[in-house]
Amino acid sequence: MRLEGKIAIITGGASGIGLATVQKFVREGAKVLIADISLERAQHASDEIAAAGFDGATAACQVDVSVFAEVEAMVARAVEVFGRVDVIFNNAGIAGGRPLLEHEPEKDYAPILRVDQDGVYYGILAAGRQFKKQGGGGVIISTSSIYGEQAAELSFTYSAAKAAVISFTRSAAYELAEHGVRAVAITPGRVGTPIINQFSDELKATFAAEQVRNKLTRPEEIADVVAFLASDEANAINGTVVSVDDGYSVFKQRLDLPVF
Ligand SMILES: NC(=O)c1ccc[n+]([C@@H]2O[C@H](COP(=O)([O-])OP(=O)(O)OC[C@H]3O[C@@H](n4cnc5c(N)ncnc54)[C@H](O)[C@@H]3O)[C@@H](O)[C@H]2O)c1
Repeated sequence: MRLEGKIAIITGGASGIGLATVQKFVREGAKVLIADISLERAQHASDEIAAAGFDGATAACQVDVSVFAEVEAMVARAVEVFGRVDVIFNNAGIAGGRPLLEHEPEKDYAPILRVDQDGVYYGILAAGRQFKKQGGGGVIISTSSIYGEQAAELSFTYSAAKAAVISFTRSAAYELAEHGVRAVAITPGRVGTPIINQFSDELKATFAAEQVRNKLTRPEEIADVVAFLASDEANAINGTVVSVDDGYSVFKQRLDLPVF
């Protein structure tokens, strides 16, 4: 078990990529604070994991990652329940948007930045301080997106926030290296979670066709990579972006070319 004895905080842990990662971490021997804006869904996830034979391996915590005091309280809660923190997965996020010229800044800019950008900054800051207090060590993994590296429809603000996550990761790796802390960002492509599953079958098929295997990535496949990145086996990966996009970023469109 590659995460035996590790204590992790996973934000957005009640759904999608976060929930799959909670389940994977527990199977790998970690104890996890499932942190989400919905305490009810976080508690439900924790109860189900306990019922599956992992009693005591998780605890639920309500957090709005866009509020620093709540993120600090989340880190303190993990220490209170499990004694320390070894890994934080800054994964909570919201998506959506409108064409730029239809923006109302107070609706289309600030709210997404608060969760997707500020939330990751707060997680890095609060966990970084805890890591230092513990005497060093620790891993910070943060969820960016393919959109953090490119322009796309309806994602003017989302792309900016996800680009900031990549920048935060580089800077955190640099600044926290003296405390033995590693930081890594992941860029998922098209993952079959509620963010994508809300769309029509036709649109989901289009999304799938943008990836090399012509299918949506399963959240469990992202979780497998995050578990590796959190483990000591990934000690040489630091400050960089790990693409988990099934080739999305390496090709544009599959063409039916005649042989020539
Ligand atoms: N699904 C995809 O295709 C995809 C692709 C690239 C990146 N991502 C990113 O992956 C991450 C997880 O997304 P997902 O697809 O699993 O979505 P999801 O909606 O299934 O899960 C997101 C979770 O975050 C929680 N959350 C939302 N706002 C919060 C807040 N302010 N504080 C605490 N928790 C909050 C939600 O309650 C939810 O449980 C997000 O950062 C998203 O931007 C997703």
